[in-house]
Amino acid sequence: MSNAKLTINGKDVELPIMQATEGPEVIDITKLYKETDRFTLDPGFMSTASCESKITFIDGDKGILRYRGYDIDALANNCTFLEVAYLLLMGELPNAEEKAKFEHEITYHTLVQEQMNFFYRGFPRRSHPMAILAGAFASLSAFYHDSLDIRDPDQRQLSAYRMIAKIPTLCAMAYKYSINQPFIYPKNKLEYTPRFIDMMFATPCEEYHVSPKVARALDKVLILHADHEQNASTSTVRLAGSSGANPFACIGAGIASLWGPAHGGANEAVLVMLDEIGTVGNIPKFIERVKNKEEGVRLMGFGHRVYKNFDPRAQVLKEAAHDVFEELGMQSDPLLDVALELERVALEDEYFVERKLYPNVDFYSGIIYKAMGIPVEMFTPMFALARTAGWISQWKEMIEDPLQKIGRPRQLYTGYKQREFVSIDKR
Ligand code: CMC
Repeated sequence: MSNAKLTINGKDVELPIMQATEGPEVIDITKLYKETDRFTLDPGFMSTASCESKITFIDGDKGILRYRGYDIDALANNCTFLEVAYLLLMGELPNAEEKAKFEHEITYHTLVQEQMNFFYRGFPRRSHPMAILAGAFASLSAFYHDSLDIRDPDQRQLSAYRMIAKIPTLCAMAYKYSINQPFIYPKNKLEYTPRFIDMMFATPCEEYHVSPKVARALDKVLILHADHEQNASTSTVRLAGSSGANPFACIGAGIASLWGPAHGGANEAVLVMLDEIGTVGNIPKFIERVKNKEEGVRLMGFGHRVYKNFDPRAQVLKEAAHDVFEELGMQSDPLLDVALELERVALEDEYFVERKLYPNVDFYSGIIYKAMGIPVEMFTPMFALARTAGWISQWKEMIEDPLQKIGRPRQLYTGYKQREFVSIDKR
């Protein structure tokens, strides 16, 4: 192991350099404070690894995203979402027997307690589904006392099954509630993703047919959103969990963090933009506004902080989007026409080419959801549905790390030094 040397006021400090299997080496600064009486400052974690993990690897320059070593496109094109959830959680892809057992476990945990229906009824009908989901999910710890002991591996496993199983039910209930329709119970004869689609769109009045092609496309969207290493919501889950809080509460915190527009809200922004553009004829004018950098005008769904050449998730979804349009006979939808023409124009325009601005995952996931009839307010809950598999896997990895400690960042204090107290009559 090599060391990095830091010199402070003439004193040398040796800091061990840790090797990654892939990606940048990491300078271990855990002893820095003890040896130098100094902290480091890194708001936004621009240069700081917050933990060690074996789950997801990203190389933004090369456009690589891998779960447990497998390329995202291989997983999206060959696995179901539940196989990928198993991979994230257990570390390996399941064999046929393990897959069947896992699917069985998940299927038989999809129902939520009937009491939950009354809980939902306490929300105003016009609530944003994320508001309902965040509250409902965190409340699961009130229902499942038998899986709250985080030191018991069987209870950890049971709570993981419950969360992956129940999040589609809770999401669909949030939607049904907001449109004043009866909740649809999960049907065990259906697989995970078709079951979710059924809970979203069926009514008790008649049979609902889930298109296998559309279900497969949605399965791919879920796989692509299942994990993305230490992003804001995942870091929130880990930090909440580091205090020993139960996993339902921790994932509830993750859902709250995901709700922010800088994180889970971008696909919604794509649809708002497409709506605003309105027709193909308005595209050149809009592109000009983007290039002139008019305040608040960006090509939403383009560009990425990490992926600077292409977003590997977008490539998979581009194909899936075309499958969905074809299956639903939507080649002539005006909004999709705008999306496809916008994509074509931007990919040929020097401004975007020069800045390496390509469509990201949210450009296509937004238009797939739209084509499926999923309303924009449900886009972030869909993200939460998929990411639950990643959150619980990251939480489990943290809890099972023997060196795990409570997360306690420090600060650079720039407030007042000690001041004399002034009584209220003298202020
Ligand atoms: N439209 C127009 N210009 C853009 C865009 C865009 N979408 N993105 C970046 N630029 C320009 C920007 O103006 C700058 O130009 P210049 O060099 O002339 O000043 C250059 O490209 C570099 O931009 P940046 O803001 O430094 O890039 P960043 O890495 O900080 O931003 C981003 C990344 C995702 C915030 C940004 O590309 C963006 O705002 N995109 C639109 C929103 C969006 O689609 N977000 C979803 C990201 S994927 C979600 C996920 O993975 O969780």
